[in-house]
Amino acid sequence: MKVLRTQEEIKKYALAQKQAGKTIGLVPTMGALHEGHLTLMREAKKNTDVVIASVFVNPVQFGPNEDFDAYPRQFEQDCAKLEDVGVDAVFHPEPSEMYPEGFCTYVNVEGEFTKKLCGGQRPGHFRGVATVVTKLINLARADKAFFGQKDAQQVCVIRRFVEDLAIPVEIHMVPIVREENGLARSSRNAYLSPQEKEAALVLSRSLNLAATAFKKGTVQVETLKQIIKDEINKEPLAVIDYVEIYSFPALTEIETAQAGDIMAIAVKIGKTRLIDNVILEG
Ligand code: PAJ
Repeated sequence: MKVLRTQEEIKKYALAQKQAGKTIGLVPTMGALHEGHLTLMREAKKNTDVVIASVFVNPVQFGPNEDFDAYPRQFEQDCAKLEDVGVDAVFHPEPSEMYPEGFCTYVNVEGEFTKKLCGGQRPGHFRGVATVVTKLINLARADKAFFGQKDAQQVCVIRRFVEDLAIPVEIHMVPIVREENGLARSSRNAYLSPQEKEAALVLSRSLNLAATAFKKGTVQVETLKQIIKDEINKEPLAVIDYVEIYSFPALTEIETAQAGDIMAIAVKIGKTRLIDNVILEG
């Protein structure tokens, strides 16, 4: 597997692949890789000739009081995992390489939907995501880029600016990968103590309760939200950031739910903020 650290290196690599007639799949990550990330890599391998992963903890998507410094960095281990699943190249730049002196251009998706869910809790977050993802797509000359439903709002934002700015790339969304006990895989799970990890199961448990109620005929959004909140509030270590049910992917307000709508939650377990979601099935 090739390790690319500069813009020049990735540009040269991507151009050579294109000139050889290959299609390129891009999988952007911030590292500390787990099965969720690796599932995206496998999906990219199935759909494109050459897979480029990126491992870059993107400073511009973190707020001043967020975990940029504490975010787990384990590049050697990440490389071993990427090599294992057959990724062709990994792009691992320094922040100064991505944002050199004079950098002053950002991609800002302005739709109301960006202010909901995590956008409301994390001002500037999606501007940072959209900016770095645009740059990565361009550098990698990606034909297809792969993202997880775990960060469903992120997928909405990315699909929006790709369409609005006519960026010639196909966006693929991959379902959430969970541990056997239901916990959505996340690099931030590494922050949890064993007791907190147990408490964190309340996220998927509460969503499943509401999904089951929906299947049995409960469609009132307020009722479904209450089912989720009641379950989370039973867990002493859990504090709700938000519990929402919206249409998907537009993320508009709804009063009654139908198949295809999304139930999305953010919950603090101790100091760690976790997110999870379920797209309702009929
Ligand atoms: P990161 O949190 O490292 O996630 C990288 C990709 O893996 C995202 O598309 C995310 O949705 C996906 N992912 C994470 N956990 C998953 C799970 N349990 N199941 C399925 N997919 C999962 O998201 C980011 O990084 C950044 O915002 C990034 C897009 C790289 C821009 O900096």
